[in-house]
Amino acid sequence: MRGWLLAPERFTPALDDIERAAMRIRENASALVVVGIGGSYLGSKAALDFIRSPDYNALPKDTPDLYFTGTSFSGDGLAELLTMLEGRDFFVNVISKSGTTPEPSAAFRVLRDALEKKYGEKGANERIIATTDLKTGLLRRMADERGWETFEVPGDTGGRYSVLTPVGLLPMAAAGIDIRAALRGAEEVLQRGFEDAVRYAAIRNAHYEAGKKIELFALMEPAMRSFGEWLKQLFGESGGKEGRGLFPASVVYSTDLHSIGQYVQEGERLFFETFLRTEKGRGNLLVPEGEEVGFAGGRTFDELNAAAFEGTKKAHLDGNVPCVSVTIPERSAETFGEIVAFFELACAVSCVMSGLNAFDQPGVEAYKRNMRGLFQA
Ligand code: PA5
Repeated sequence: MRGWLLAPERFTPALDDIERAAMRIRENASALVVVGIGGSYLGSKAALDFIRSPDYNALPKDTPDLYFTGTSFSGDGLAELLTMLEGRDFFVNVISKSGTTPEPSAAFRVLRDALEKKYGEKGANERIIATTDLKTGLLRRMADERGWETFEVPGDTGGRYSVLTPVGLLPMAAAGIDIRAALRGAEEVLQRGFEDAVRYAAIRNAHYEAGKKIELFALMEPAMRSFGEWLKQLFGESGGKEGRGLFPASVVYSTDLHSIGQYVQEGERLFFETFLRTEKGRGNLLVPEGEEVGFAGGRTFDELNAAAFEGTKKAHLDGNVPCVSVTIPERSAETFGEIVAFFELACAVSCVMSGLNAFDQPGVEAYKRNMRGLFQA
């Protein structure tokens, strides 16, 4: 299951096809609905927020809105999505390696109906793109029968390691993200060698051995909130098994300093903290001088955020929370590729060091078995 290490090299030749499909979506729709759960959507959502914006759909742009669904059994959420799609042209990218995951399967069935009602069967088939395994599986069979365009989830790459495969790359390209730059960033990290990732993995494992139970990812930029969700899946599904493993949690600072910050400073010493910060924001926006702004007057938001990071780290170190920090120069497609490759490597190395299989997730099946049992009873 180490195909993700080859992603940049393997998918660069496929980029023309992915970009062509993205262009077809952009020219014929004002919305793309991405249907997938876990590793089938968290990476592209993280990319969209980090590289474009968490407010992407609301911003003026010449690319389609992106909606993510099939991420729960919320009928309310899906009904609201159908309302938002009314009167609009849309495509559906259904993403499932197995093709049988219940949440996306149920949502996709509803959206397939909506497409058929709007465009007829042939028109609907032209607006469904399936990203699934290469040869077998239900979704693959349906795609072959109905003539949907398809992209591959490589057999040797698990969902949570798949963001830089067509799973993440097609939605990213539809949103106008430079996917070549993202792959370049990842390639650079993979070529550089494993030293940084091994050092970070060793630090995490040392904290665990010393009795810490939680790794708190502290994100110094709200556009990284979804990256925090991706990290939680990556580390949670890879390293939480056999009664062992650090529990991955995430907070966004300085927002959460005004909620959970009190606990971090003075509650039980259960965790160590991994800060992720960008050095440079995009606008260099300035706070004007004024009696209401105190020390913030005349400073840029970048300066304030940097000071918030230093101030928080010092306070938490003083409060006996060990801190690690990862500095990202800026928010770009390239740096996104870099941090994805860095954390994937670190996660896999961390699991190897602890004697855990980083690539299976046996525990995810338990609730599905129970659900099935309830309907059979
Ligand atoms: O990391 C994983 O493999 C899982 O989290 C999957 O991504 C998730 O369960 C979705 O599976 P599938 O793509 O088969 O629908």
